[in-house]
Amino acid sequence: VRATFRVGLIGLGHVGAAFAERLTGDPATVAQAAGRRVELGAIAVARPEGRQAPAPLVPVEKLIADKKLDLVVELVGGLEPARTYVEAALRAGREVVTANKQVIARFGPTLAQGGGLRFEAAVASAIPIVETLAEALAADRISAVVAILNGTTNVILQAMIQGRPYQEALREAQSRGLAEADPSADVDGHDAAAKLAILIMLAFRHRVDSESVQRTGIRGLDGATLRLARGQGQVVKLIGAAVLTPQGEIHADVRPRRVPQHDPLAQVDGVMNAIRIRAAFAGDLMLAGPGAGPQAAASAVLADVIRAARGLPPSAGARLAALARERETAITPLGPAQPYPQAG
Ligand code: HSE
Repeated sequence: VRATFRVGLIGLGHVGAAFAERLTGDPATVAQAAGRRVELGAIAVARPEGRQAPAPLVPVEKLIADKKLDLVVELVGGLEPARTYVEAALRAGREVVTANKQVIARFGPTLAQGGGLRFEAAVASAIPIVETLAEALAADRISAVVAILNGTTNVILQAMIQGRPYQEALREAQSRGLAEADPSADVDGHDAAAKLAILIMLAFRHRVDSESVQRTGIRGLDGATLRLARGQGQVVKLIGAAVLTPQGEIHADVRPRRVPQHDPLAQVDGVMNAIRIRAAFAGDLMLAGPGAGPQAAASAVLADVIRAARGLPPSAGARLAALARERETAITPLGPAQPYPQAG
């Protein structure tokens, strides 16, 4: 029997609490999946005073330096101090699992050079797209990615079409734990752009600067515009799309697009996300599922922890690390013109 695998958790917000509950609520199922016991050894939070937690609360520096921990899970979100924690934990010899798309999109290649870095939850939460690109499609050639990558905006767009005001729909997304701490990250397209940049690096194997993904959010839209599109047989979705041309150029952006009603992406409602991939050998694939929410994100975090406990290689991290010395490929916006890469 292998020794107990010990996990430290930084951050106990919506996702952190759901992940801790999965680990501690049903340890037998987790142990069976991991091939060994997995224990939550310590938790660090920004304001520990008076907080209840399912494992001892310790200062973050102590958690990162604790040699008895095998792995650190970072669920703080945002660029700093999350990036510093990830870097420090890797430098201290821990494996790291994170759901942080901003940190991975901006610093993933550099950080992944420092050790085992896993980030399945960073893109589309419960949809297992990160390891699918890094493992299942590792030897394929991917030429296009078209996706709905933000649950909050998808919920808001749907509510607006039903005649509910934007602010009310946003508040609902916040109360369900879907929205980012700063909802501008959702509604202005930053969150989707970061996820698209990660997908581009994994799928096209080129390093890109996530800041150079042109983005247009959903603030300018109103219910009347959405209903007008629907009357014309189209559904407005916030779409992240990327194409790798045969010349090796990358065309990509995030913007609201009118999706024909018969396109499967038009059926992706509420908190669902979907990612369509055009692969030379596997063909056209579409993965869909819950793209936001505490349980969905915790599910992907736990999957990474189990892979680490089983000793499986951090394939997606290794793929980003391989790009670390590469210069960033420029991104040309696809622009609003139709057609963007369509189904079939
Ligand atoms: N705020 C994000 C969303 C959470 O709404 O999709 C998942 O990354």
